[in-house]
Amino acid sequence: MKKNSILDRFSLKGRVVIITGAAGLLGRQYSHTVAEAGGIPVMVDIEGKPVHTLSAEIKEKGVESLPLQADIAEPDQVRAAVDAVMERFGRIDALVNNAAMNPKFDPDHAGEHSNRFEDYPFESWKRELEVNVGGMFLFSQAVAKPMLAAGKGSIINVSSTYGLVGPDQRLYQREGEPPSFKPVTYTVSKAAAVGLTRYLAAYFAGSGVRVNTLTPGGVFAGHDDEFVRRYSAKTILGRMAQPDEMAAALLFLVSDASTYMTGANLVVDGGWTAW
Ligand SMILES: NC(=O)c1ccc[n+]([C@@H]2O[C@H](COP(=O)([O-])OP(=O)(O)OC[C@H]3O[C@@H](n4cnc5c(N)ncnc54)[C@H](O)[C@@H]3O)[C@@H](O)[C@H]2O)c1
Repeated sequence: MKKNSILDRFSLKGRVVIITGAAGLLGRQYSHTVAEAGGIPVMVDIEGKPVHTLSAEIKEKGVESLPLQADIAEPDQVRAAVDAVMERFGRIDALVNNAAMNPKFDPDHAGEHSNRFEDYPFESWKRELEVNVGGMFLFSQAVAKPMLAAGKGSIINVSSTYGLVGPDQRLYQREGEPPSFKPVTYTVSKAAAVGLTRYLAAYFAGSGVRVNTLTPGGVFAGHDDEFVRRYSAKTILGRMAQPDEMAAALLFLVSDASTYMTGANLVVDGGWTAW
């Protein structure tokens, strides 16, 4: 009898995996990873064009995928997206709640609004929590019934090191430039992701549906040298992450490699929060 390889546990053969925010830096990488592992990525984003382009790229590799444009903070659009997946594939094996608003504060976005806590606009607070937390709530709610009916499923809520510790705002200051700040909504919403994971993992007890958090540290995306130097000095490994380092951790959580994990938080931060 052929002995199964441990690598079989990482296989997503035939599995349908919804990834929100699939047009972004990490969402793109996650979509390719799911496809490479044999799964069918369903790529959801508020931006329709990039997920269609991504789907075409994945098709070139001979893999089926489904691009869907939806605002994750709109209940009707979320329901319609999940209905479309069920109609097309009849199953949802995993959901990656990855989409998030992370207000930019670089010079290109100067003047849009202040990120200073003292005058952070309540309208921005509401919209950002609606998307970052509300979107996770709505999508988790929409996949719950099909997953419960199937008696299995894996949900991953994406947090951030800034959901575990407050941002060191000194990282974002530049001499001669106006002060800038990682916004309050980012930490609040990313901390909420950890809470939602624990709530849902406990709620789904005995059902076969697992829920875990993935907590990435900073991923290099063309940041300037000064930022990379400052950021790297705060990590034990002395560098920023590469996107595929997050994708490897995601594959672990999505697949049967992590079948004894639920309610957990996988922190992939180069040691940022360990010292
Ligand atoms: N990149 C990092 O260094 C890093 C570090 C820690 C945590 N994270 C987390 O990882 C996740 C992905 O990060 P990223 O760097 O790829 O972000 P990104 O900004 O590149 O991508 C986010 C995507 O979400 C989409 N989106 C935003 N609002 C939406 C809405 N209402 N409906 C549907 N889609 C919407 C955007 O269009 C975008 O494509 C986020 O949750 C982020 O907080 C990223």
